[in-house]
Amino acid sequence: MIIPLEKTNKRKLYQTNRESYSTNNISKISKIYDEKINVLILKRELNNKFFDIAKKIFIKKPNLKFSKVLSPYEVEESLINAIGFEKKLFPIFEDIFFLSSIFSDLFDVKKIWLRINTINHPMCPRFHVDNVKCRLVSTYFGPGMQWLPNNSVNRSKLGLINHGIDDEKSGVFESKNDIKQLDLGDVAFLKGDAWSGNAGLGAVHRSPHSQKNYKRMYVRIDFSDIKLNRRYFND
Ligand SMILES: [Fe+2]
Repeated sequence: MIIPLEKTNKRKLYQTNRESYSTNNISKISKIYDEKINVLILKRELNNKFFDIAKKIFIKKPNLKFSKVLSPYEVEESLINAIGFEKKLFPIFEDIFFLSSIFSDLFDVKKIWLRINTINHPMCPRFHVDNVKCRLVSTYFGPGMQWLPNNSVNRSKLGLINHGIDDEKSGVFESKNDIKQLDLGDVAFLKGDAWSGNAGLGAVHRSPHSQKNYKRMYVRIDFSDIKLNRRYFND
């Protein structure tokens, strides 16, 4: 089932030729190749054991900064080396292998850039666009990434032009109700400005905001050849 998210919004504030899609059918993720789509959400209902395992990893490695370019087939061994050989952790290692494989297959790349972090503060607290082709993002523990539907974002208010004004005051969105947030286990594919033909139309997103008890474990997968251009508040 594919739900065009923009059609769920009553208000349409800004004209755009980009759309967001949500699906629970993995065979539909190739829709990311549709020029009009710059945010694709694969909805998943992960077993609660994944959240428990992620919490264990957070406690075991509270400042984990795993970052490697590797093939999907190297993922599990690499995670065992970085986090530990404990059978109870294996289901999450297998799921990260699964995410690595779908990214590799979807974009026909042998190597991926895999990053896994545990963190206790927002990494990119302001809405921004990344200068990447397409990034996979998923959260196993803690609050999920926030993003703005294309017709709810005032792109003229993004980036350094705001001189550090909070998103809530900058006018980048009109109402807090416009902000979408990933649920745990959901997988987001975010097209950035470096995707061919997508310059100036990348997915607008930020780290989740939470006033207290901010603890997260999340995964990001990128093309291995990206050169990060910190055009906005990139990470
Ligand atoms: Fe980002």
